[in-house]
Amino acid sequence: MLDIPYTFELNAPGFVPSRYDNHIRRTLTSMRGQYHDVAAYEAMLAGGDALLYEVYELARPHESGEVLHGISIVHPGKVGDEYYMTKGHFHTVLETAEIYICLAGQGVMVMETPEGDWSVEALTPGRVLYVPPRWAHRSVNTGTADLVTLFAYPGHAGHDYGTIEQQGFRKLLVERDGLPEIVDNPRWGGEDREKGRRGEGEKG
Ligand code: F6R
Ligand code: ZN
Repeated sequence: MLDIPYTFELNAPGFVPSRYDNHIRRTLTSMRGQYHDVAAYEAMLAGGDALLYEVYELARPHESGEVLHGISIVHPGKVGDEYYMTKGHFHTVLETAEIYICLAGQGVMVMETPEGDWSVEALTPGRVLYVPPRWAHRSVNTGTADLVTLFAYPGHAGHDYGTIEQQGFRKLLVERDGLPEIVDNPRWGGEDREKGRRGEGEKG
């Protein structure tokens, strides 16, 4: 890890950073239980453990004062009628925000608070999204090419994946008549969201 100022390049079309420290690859198995069409999920998995998204991180200390940053690439595709997406998470320190800049592709960020408020914002090249403190976030690729975003968030934020794993986000992004549509997640209860939160620290 460098402790002097540094730069790196993000070059089209791939946008893999010219330097990075961690490369995380998320496949279908890491999304077990998250797609609403369980039969479609199992059928797809039987054909192989498809790569859904990748994250390139620059290593910085996970402490207050630092800004963690990197590139997220969600590949195009669907499980049944539901688009490829990230696991999604709350930050363990709930009062921490995040900023995303979309570099390529077409998609949305699905967000919600422990109180049950929700929001879906479009991600298109050049668009900047501010995710305020308290909002869980998941990127969804609704297009036909890679969805590439640059993200930055406080070093002490941490990741709580467990709360989302329990019942998903309140809203799902599915394809209807060839177009993305926001629909209710039948698995989402809305009860005890705050009580159910649990911290997990690193990306998991
Ligand atoms: C960090 C953050 C992004 C995501 C990345 C992958 O707080 O929001 O770096 O970690 O887009 O998504 P997850 O972590 O939900 O698998
Ligand atoms: Zn985050």
